[in-house]
Amino acid sequence: MSRFFTPALAALTPYTPGEQPQNRQYIKLNTNESPYPPSPQVCRLLDEEKADDLRLYSDPSAAVLCSAIADYYGVQPANVFVGNGSDEVLAFAFQAFGKGRRMAFPDVTYAFYSVFAALFGIETRVVPLDENLAIDPADYFLPGEQVVLANPNALTGKVLPLTEIERVLQAHPDDVVIIDEAYVDFGGVSAAALLDKYDNLLVVQTFSKSRSLAGARVGLALGNAELIADLNTIKYSFNPYNVNRLSMKLAAAAIRDTEYFNTCCARIIADRDFTAAGLRQLGFDMTDSMANFLFVRHPQISGRDYYLRLKEQGILVRWFDEERIRDFVRITVGSHDDMAKLLAVTADILQAD
Ligand SMILES: Cc1ncc(COP(=O)(O)O)c(C=O)c1O
Repeated sequence: MSRFFTPALAALTPYTPGEQPQNRQYIKLNTNESPYPPSPQVCRLLDEEKADDLRLYSDPSAAVLCSAIADYYGVQPANVFVGNGSDEVLAFAFQAFGKGRRMAFPDVTYAFYSVFAALFGIETRVVPLDENLAIDPADYFLPGEQVVLANPNALTGKVLPLTEIERVLQAHPDDVVIIDEAYVDFGGVSAAALLDKYDNLLVVQTFSKSRSLAGARVGLALGNAELIADLNTIKYSFNPYNVNRLSMKLAAAAIRDTEYFNTCCARIIADRDFTAAGLRQLGFDMTDSMANFLFVRHPQISGRDYYLRLKEQGILVRWFDEERIRDFVRITVGSHDDMAKLLAVTADILQAD
């Protein structure tokens, strides 16, 4: 830390992203990326792209992309906001709706929520998951605080049904409830279906997982037009060109290609089930994940050792050195071959122990 860093942020612990190794080829199952390339329509557009166009700024209103997203969800473009990854969308939402207020979220969830809160000086109420690592919606009925829930929840992959999300929304008529649906396309049901009924609902999604565009950095929010206007106020006070020209075009093509999207999601779901069955046979237990990852532990081997042994064998997964979840590792669902390899290597590791 330099001696110039503002004391207000001196205690900030930044988010630790999953490893992105540049020096060795791993089977990369650590950051919930898609094992499949983006839609062929996206690849075609990229091939046709002219470098000369990069002279020009992107459309700050992101009109083409917002209307493609609006068509997909059956809402109006005024109900859509786009950002540089859903991390940015969430950061804007925390600033717009959390600053000077309190935000509630679970203890085991997407780690960025507490980082944003610290960065923006937002008071938090961190609510422990129950003993089954599930969210109890009744823990979020306290009016006067904003709520952010990942659904499926990050790390566990567990899903809250929409009826439970509705109970949270109803308990908060004067607060914003953010539902982060980064993993919803792998078996969850989107709260976008509730947008007509609740003006306090903000649904956040990403192109990084189910649409294979993590490197393009595009995220979105759906909500009442006034909530979206508030996000735009933050955006135009920070970086009007937050999504670059190329990513905007590619994301619009990706969301229009529903057939390819459905095929990829179905494959990932099938391979999640295949992997879960294989790991259970090897003695693992796991949360009931509806995401593109599994959160697993084994009575015979610690989370840390399993992570390290897999890494030695060229397979990268994610281990979190945190109370409550230290025994677990999170494994992204890759291609079928990746998962077959993971199972074979895991069997060897357990046998050698
Ligand atoms: C729950 C959750 N929300 C949001 C994000 C951010 O995704 P991105 O910024 O790539 O859209 C992630 C990334 O892993 C996540 O797990």
